[in-house]
Amino acid sequence: MRLSVIGCGYLGAVHAAAMASIGHEVVGIDVDERKIASLSRGEAPFFEPGLQEILSEGIASGRLTFTTDMGAASGASVHFIGVGTPQQQGGYAADLTYVNAAVDALLPHLSEGDIVAGKSTVPVGTAAGLAPRVEATGATLVWNPEFLREGWAVQDTIDPDRLVVGVPAGERGERAAEILREVYHPAGAKGTPFIVTDLATAELVKVSANAFLATKISFINAMAEIAEATGADVTQLADAIGHDARIGRRFLGAGIGFGGGCLPKDIRAFAARAEELGRGESVGFLREVDAINLRRRERAVDLVVDALGGSAYGKKVTVLGAAFKPHSDDIRDSPALDVAVRLHGLGAAVTVTDPAAIENASRVHPQLTYVTDRDEALQSADAVIVVTEWDEYRREMSPVDAGSLVAGKIIVDGRNCLDAGAWRDAGWEYYGMGRP
Ligand code: UGA
Repeated sequence: MRLSVIGCGYLGAVHAAAMASIGHEVVGIDVDERKIASLSRGEAPFFEPGLQEILSEGIASGRLTFTTDMGAASGASVHFIGVGTPQQQGGYAADLTYVNAAVDALLPHLSEGDIVAGKSTVPVGTAAGLAPRVEATGATLVWNPEFLREGWAVQDTIDPDRLVVGVPAGERGERAAEILREVYHPAGAKGTPFIVTDLATAELVKVSANAFLATKISFINAMAEIAEATGADVTQLADAIGHDARIGRRFLGAGIGFGGGCLPKDIRAFAARAEELGRGESVGFLREVDAINLRRRERAVDLVVDALGGSAYGKKVTVLGAAFKPHSDDIRDSPALDVAVRLHGLGAAVTVTDPAAIENASRVHPQLTYVTDRDEALQSADAVIVVTEWDEYRREMSPVDAGSLVAGKIIVDGRNCLDAGAWRDAGWEYYGMGRP
């Protein structure tokens, strides 16, 4: 099939390359000339395992092209909208400027029978608002939310755990759902659940899934706060409750909490939308989820300061990690960088290292010192804090070797990812999050 993908950021670039890799002819369109130039050369503009390979293959096969010209969308039968919906400046709601602009720019290039498939995360009701403009061209608007995780984006796109398509009522919607099934044919062949629903439900599935995940993380971080007041160990607690299949251990990792380009802004936009709908109370708990999450960053900073005897001023603190999570160079709303910046604000001489995110981090926070080599970063540190659980720190860092590099053997495990016993045995003062 011929497809167009409007917006070649995280979501769109991966989607375009993944759709080409399953045999479609795809054009990716974006207004950012630099991004398009990089993608056209087969170079992934961000770090995502597996993307580089499918990008180069797609371009070499001739099935994948990128352009800034919206006219290139003509002739495609399905047009995916994958532009960003960031948090509004000065508010909690989602900024729909890019979605509106993308749809408006696409309208003149649509033909009778085309499908416009929204993938961006939008407040419930957005699709219904856009539909009349799309339908006036003879095309059909559907909403097909994306559940990819950064770091696993290629796999999640090619082999998702479910596909959700919100369609308009009647024959028009049924036909659109069939076309989307055709687009995602390998998943269909594998028996991946394919849920056809209405537009509002599809939009809500996406935000409620992220709200649930954020709530799960903040739940365990709330338990970490209680553990801190009682001497209990939140990691053991998570293991124990996680054995209950109804609860499950995943996303019960207590630590400095969630960040990234999705969970924080999505729960805020959801709460803002619920207020607009007169149902603010229904998701009022999301404000608490947000507050718990932000408190954990503060807690990590306090642990460092306390371990340093009450002040970080003039102390050398090494921060291991900058990305919002491992296998990503994304620093959007990164709890890791937030902790680093807060320590810097307290007068510490902060050195940050990360296997992938230094370039992005140094652009946004040039006031911090960045070092690519982990051991060099550890050199003569008064305290060390792990804030992104990369294997380089979690598995491959020996407490004995690290101990020979630092000035003070203080380690704060902001992700509860280290073997506390091994670090203590090597003579370190170890501090976890919600652990004795
Ligand atoms: C999230 C969702 O997991 C995806 O399903 C969704 O498609 C995506 O947002 C999106 O809306 O696009 P992602 O932002 O890539 O994916 O990251 P997650 O793996 O969900 O992690 C989010 C944050 O939670 C990270 O900062 C991570 O360190 C933190 N986290 C995760 C914890 O603090 N504890 C955990 O147990 C798990």
